[in-house]
Amino acid sequence: MKKLIVISTVVILMYALTAFWSPKGSEAVVSGDCEVCHSLYPGMMEAAGAGKPLRYVLQNSMCVSCHSNADRNTIKMLGGARVPVVYSRVEPEHPLSGGNFYYVKVLGDRHGHNVDGIASADEKNLFLPPGYDRFSDPSTIGFDPEKPLSCAGSNGCHGDRNIENPFAAILGTHHSTDSPVDGTTIAKSYRFLKRTAKVKGVVGLEDKDWGYNATPKKHNEYTSSINNFCADCHSGLYRRDEIGRESPWFRHPTGIVLPGRGEYKSYNPGMPPPPERSGTRIYSLDAPLARPAVPAVSSDAVRPGTDIVMCLSCHVAHGSPNEFMLRWDYDSIVSGEDGSRGCFICHTGKGE
Ligand code: HEC
Ligand code: HEC
Ligand code: HEC
Ligand code: HEC
Ligand code: HEC
Repeated sequence: MKKLIVISTVVILMYALTAFWSPKGSEAVVSGDCEVCHSLYPGMMEAAGAGKPLRYVLQNSMCVSCHSNADRNTIKMLGGARVPVVYSRVEPEHPLSGGNFYYVKVLGDRHGHNVDGIASADEKNLFLPPGYDRFSDPSTIGFDPEKPLSCAGSNGCHGDRNIENPFAAILGTHHSTDSPVDGTTIAKSYRFLKRTAKVKGVVGLEDKDWGYNATPKKHNEYTSSINNFCADCHSGLYRRDEIGRESPWFRHPTGIVLPGRGEYKSYNPGMPPPPERSGTRIYSLDAPLARPAVPAVSSDAVRPGTDIVMCLSCHVAHGSPNEFMLRWDYDSIVSGEDGSRGCFICHTGKGE
């Protein structure tokens, strides 16, 4: 017991110090009142016995419970820390940029990733990612289709997928310096999406409110590294040799530049730019594009001929009110009910 107290004191001192040393602006560094989180989830750092290192027994369910909320708000306070909420028990007021697992829980399988602790196995896909190919997955462990999808770890999305346990795979990240977002460590990867220790993590510009109240001007900025991340589990839908014109259209070209010609020149026709900004278009939150490099600030300008189609142009990452986690209701779009949304934000049909 004495030993544990000593260890805890040292740890607390260490963190108190790093809290002071942390450079300004590293938003994701959680500090402050340790007890608020660590006594709420006492299992987080349990002693495994005298002389043994602390054991991290927090499992996937802990990610889910801390990142969920009973009310409609999607940023909740825990002591002084703001927790981004990705699973709301009631319909969320402002889903964050990844969407919300509420929809897969309430509307069913097609509406999101069936993550363990939130939704049971997907009846069609079971635990297998559509298009999974072991050889294209850089994880040394690989995705185990006998086991459910989790938030982090080798069967999950966040953290290091070379580590099986969701908590071990993200350990230390919540307290590490998270900028610059250069993909070198988990904390310095966009939203902790490191993929594996050996490959570069996802890079992007992180909106400090996780997309809460996003506008065409203030939003996350992505690069095509997000496509590589999704392709770790869905490469069969992404590999160039399988994306032919004869393929089902959902193998839509991804990672390609939005052409600076024809119909694409009128991207987001519902929101034409002011005359002095001709040659650019206004960014649409319903069909966002990735940038060739991470910009310093987010911008409402889209440049056909430069910006890039990505998985998240059409999908969200967690869950959405629409089937296939799409940003819009595909059925109403193909039937032409909605001429300025969805596919038509890019396929404006006015050119050529
Ligand atoms: C005790 C509560 C708690 C638990 C448990 C927890 N988190 Fe978090 N998480 C937070 C807080 C607080 C933040 C916000 C940090 C900040 O200020 O940006 C956060 C942020 C994040 C982010 C966003 C990082 C960013 O770039 O903004 C991700 C991703 C994340 N957590 C994943 C996980 C995963 C995966 C697990 C389980 C392995 C987990 N969290 C467990 C509290 C928690
Ligand atoms: C760690 C593996 C993994 C990663 C990485 C991953 N997915 Fe998935 N995905 C799955 C699994 C497993 C399923 C099947 C179970 C389900 O639907 O929840 C799935 C299903 C889907 C579906 C079909 C949903 C449905 O229920 O019909 C879509 C769409 C999808 N993923 C998109 C994405 C996108 C976009 C990304 C990147 C942001 C991504 N996935 C990253 C594992 C992954
Ligand atoms: C907002 C919630 C929150 C607060 C406040 C918080 N922690 Fe944590 N802490 C977490 C989460 C979540 C994890 C596990 C995930 C991780 O390591 O990223 C964690 C992990 C740890 C770990 C193990 C990982 C590592 O970095 O070695 C230590 C030690 C730790 N916290 C110490 C502290 C101390 C000391 C304080 C007070 C200065 C504190 N924590 C305040 C949420 C919190
Ligand atoms: C231009 C829009 C668009 C882009 C870009 C896009 N998708 Fe999709 N995706 C769709 C649509 C629409 C569907 C539904 C297909 C259907 O009805 O069969 C779909 C379906 C899926 C499915 C479910 C397939 C199944 O058989 O259940 C997965 C998984 C998926 N997409 C992953 C991805 C990944 C990963 C990327 C990026 C590499 C991506 N998508 C890029 C529009 C898109
Ligand atoms: C973010 C912009 C964007 C969105 C949204 C989008 N597309 Fe596309 N689409 C493109 C681009 C760019 C191309 C490639 C054009 C080229 O190479 O000339 C393309 C090509 C296609 C093609 C030709 C296939 C091929 O292999 O070249 C089809 C069919 C298509 N899109 C259908 C759709 C449908 C259906 C939707 C809605 C589910 C959709 N697109 C949404 C940008 C988009």
